[in-house]
Amino acid sequence: MWWGMMLLFLFLLFSAFSPALAWIPVQDWESGNVTASVGSSGQCVCHVFLPDTTFPADRVEHMQQVSKDLIVEVEIQKNKLVKYEDKLVIYLAELKDLEERLTIMESSPDDYIKLEFELLRIELREFEALVSQLKNSLNSSSSLFDSLYIEIQNMTFIVNQLETYDKSNLEVIRYQFAKLQKKLEECQMDQDIIKPDVGNCNHTGILSIGNPLVVQLNAHLNSNYLYGGWGRDSKPIRGNENMHFYGAYSSPGMVYDFYFYSNYENLILRKAIKQYTLPNDWRGTGNNYIVHSNAIYYQHDSPFSMTKLNLTSSGYEYRVISAASQSFSYAYSSNQNLDFAADETGLWVLYASTQNMGKIVIAKIDEKSFGIEAVWPTGMYKQSAGNAFMVCGVMYATRSVDISTEEIFYAYDTKTKQERNLSITFKKFQDKYTNLDYNPIDQKLYMYNNGYYVSYNVKFNKE
Ligand SMILES: *[C@@H]1O[C@H](CO)[C@@H](O)[C@H](O)[C@H]1NC(C)=O
Ligand SMILES: *[C@@H]1O[C@H](CO)[C@@H](O)[C@H](O)[C@H]1NC(C)=O
Ligand SMILES: *[C@@H]1O[C@H](CO)[C@@H](O)[C@H](O)[C@H]1NC(C)=O
Ligand SMILES: *[C@@H]1O[C@H](CO)[C@@H](O)[C@H](O)[C@H]1NC(C)=O
Ligand SMILES: *[C@@H]1O[C@H](CO)[C@@H](O)[C@H](O)[C@H]1NC(C)=O
Ligand SMILES: *[C@@H]1O[C@H](CO)[C@@H](O)[C@H](O)[C@H]1NC(C)=O
Repeated sequence: MWWGMMLLFLFLLFSAFSPALAWIPVQDWESGNVTASVGSSGQCVCHVFLPDTTFPADRVEHMQQVSKDLIVEVEIQKNKLVKYEDKLVIYLAELKDLEERLTIMESSPDDYIKLEFELLRIELREFEALVSQLKNSLNSSSSLFDSLYIEIQNMTFIVNQLETYDKSNLEVIRYQFAKLQKKLEECQMDQDIIKPDVGNCNHTGILSIGNPLVVQLNAHLNSNYLYGGWGRDSKPIRGNENMHFYGAYSSPGMVYDFYFYSNYENLILRKAIKQYTLPNDWRGTGNNYIVHSNAIYYQHDSPFSMTKLNLTSSGYEYRVISAASQSFSYAYSSNQNLDFAADETGLWVLYASTQNMGKIVIAKIDEKSFGIEAVWPTGMYKQSAGNAFMVCGVMYATRSVDISTEEIFYAYDTKTKQERNLSITFKKFQDKYTNLDYNPIDQKLYMYNNGYYVSYNVKFNKE
């Protein structure tokens, strides 16, 4: 494919210089006969048949010069391209792969997987962006790139046409947009590794939430797995610095397996390093679990309690919180009674109690004893919140504005015992979500949004 493109490129380059050839007065050689062609390595080859004895040496010389200039020019262009060849070879291989997948889908339109379309379209977009980037770095309007564009656009068109077979696939556009942002996020990730403010609570709270950064269907590739969570260990142990986790199921009433990934990339690639299936005795409910210090904290079903699965020792421990009620869940999903959270100051669990009339109680967990060390009753009626999370000892509660907008509307500061109304809106990919948590090590919000992974950067008010 690469060489096909290369030849096409040379051909077009050659055509571009054809005006230079045209002014060679071939027609003057009345008694002569000239043909021109491109040689095997791109050089201009002229065949001159001269039956006459009058040899126009000056003209031949001139033509040789033009030919030489052409060869030099071709060499320059070729060298430029060779510099980018490695990159292009990879891109073109990807394109080839897309083409093949498209061919398979075209030949059996009834067998296609819905997700294939989403992915294809996204990959095409990303590919187009990469080609555009490459084109700019080449600083050329070479026809090679134009033909790549045409090919990509053509494929996008075909994908779109095929996709109309599936009328239910309406969220694709938004998905595509968010996936493109993922690419940007990956570029940002390296810069983000050392954030100067990590661990620092020298701010007066959340100022704003960025656009959704990652949007990816869950690792089961199952859009019925609406109830779950994903994120990153908020206090990783040595050697597990980038551990990510995921767990989901098709009902909110059951939590039974978790997947662990060595880093973000492997989560996206669905290459788990560990999978834990909770034994029957240790199954959970609700979806507001977190991973902290290589242990997963989740809501145990029976007895109703908070449970810690230590991934290092594979040991389980549970603690009953007698004040916590099972009657109050968040607005989007049932069974969400214990909501675990981690922030710069440690580990928390949020629940509603009948004593506090269904309003959220913030409880600080002592990590050593796995007990509750302090509680703060808030004025936030739990069922009117979509979810809640902790940042720097402050609880933030969210609610829906509309199907694509969420709002942080309430904050409770455990240091001052003050509550605040606020309005910090942010975009969501789908209406409902079952898990929303802040992670203090990267200062991001992680949301499990109707089966999709979504994350956000958080901006703080530094005044
Ligand atoms: C050009 O050369 C070919 C063969 O080499 C011959 O058949 C043809 O008649 C020539 N044309 C002219 C205009 O001399
Ligand atoms: C890049 O393109 C611009 C505008 O066409 C031109 O002025 C500049 O010289 C080019 N730079 C290189 C390195 O080719
Ligand atoms: C675009 O796709 C159509 C249908 O597969 C094909 O006939 C056409 O040649 C393609 N055009 C280009 C420029 O690749
Ligand atoms: C906190 O931020 C304020 C204002 O930016 C600054 O004056 C102060 O020194 C900071 N304190 C710490 C401990 O970083
Ligand atoms: C998990 O178990 C290991 C080994 O027993 C222990 O060192 C570690 O502190 C435990 N972690 C948590 C979070 O309980
Ligand atoms: C927040 O808003 C609620 C409902 O509008 C209101 O009842 C409450 O007094 C407000 N709280 C504060 C601290 O302003």
